[in-house]
Amino acid sequence: MQLEHMRHESLPADITKVLFSEQQIKEAVQRIGSQITRDYSGQKLLLITVLKGAFIFMADLVRAIEGHVEIDFMAVSSYGAEAKSSGIVRIIKDLNTSVEGRHVLIVEDILDSGLTLKYLIKNLKSRGPLSIEVATLLFKEGKQQTNVQCRYIGLTCPDEFVVGYGLDYAEAYRNLPYIGVLAPSACV
Ligand code: IMP
Ligand code: MG
Repeated sequence: MQLEHMRHESLPADITKVLFSEQQIKEAVQRIGSQITRDYSGQKLLLITVLKGAFIFMADLVRAIEGHVEIDFMAVSSYGAEAKSSGIVRIIKDLNTSVEGRHVLIVEDILDSGLTLKYLIKNLKSRGPLSIEVATLLFKEGKQQTNVQCRYIGLTCPDEFVVGYGLDYAEAYRNLPYIGVLAPSACV
């Protein structure tokens, strides 16, 4: 009781609650890492991280995978409102690596409408990979507007705006070690 009280006292003012603790995130990442290790056993895997939100997830996930793993980064941005995906995606930073003939795993922070991933998968598929799958840390319930298939899902979260562990609001809060709910009053 007292611990809970203390923890809440130390939350930043704009965070209404901790949705997933460091420990819960760690367990989810370990679980996904083990699945990936098993599924890609004996194969070379290329992890593609979608910047910036997935950078912490990627850093932890890559250490939870055993075997031959290479990494590369992409940065994309959606036009339109900050907290909502428009489906029109712009590549800000492309890969340095060719994905042709590779087993590709896209590492995402959160699947909300799915529009960003839908675009990314289509784009990467046109480059001729051997296979392409998705690992997302968070899956927002009931929000998907597309039929994007995520082979690996860390945690399912309610339809609230979440921040921390790499996820931002207006570039802030990425450094929180847990995932928390942002107060609606903080989203302007
Ligand atoms: P989607 O295209 O609607 O699936 O949204 C994709 C991107 O929007 C994610 O990769 C995040 O960068 C961002 N996003 C969606 N929901 C949240 C959230 O609750 N917190 C922080 N970023 C989010
Ligand atoms: Mg993202």
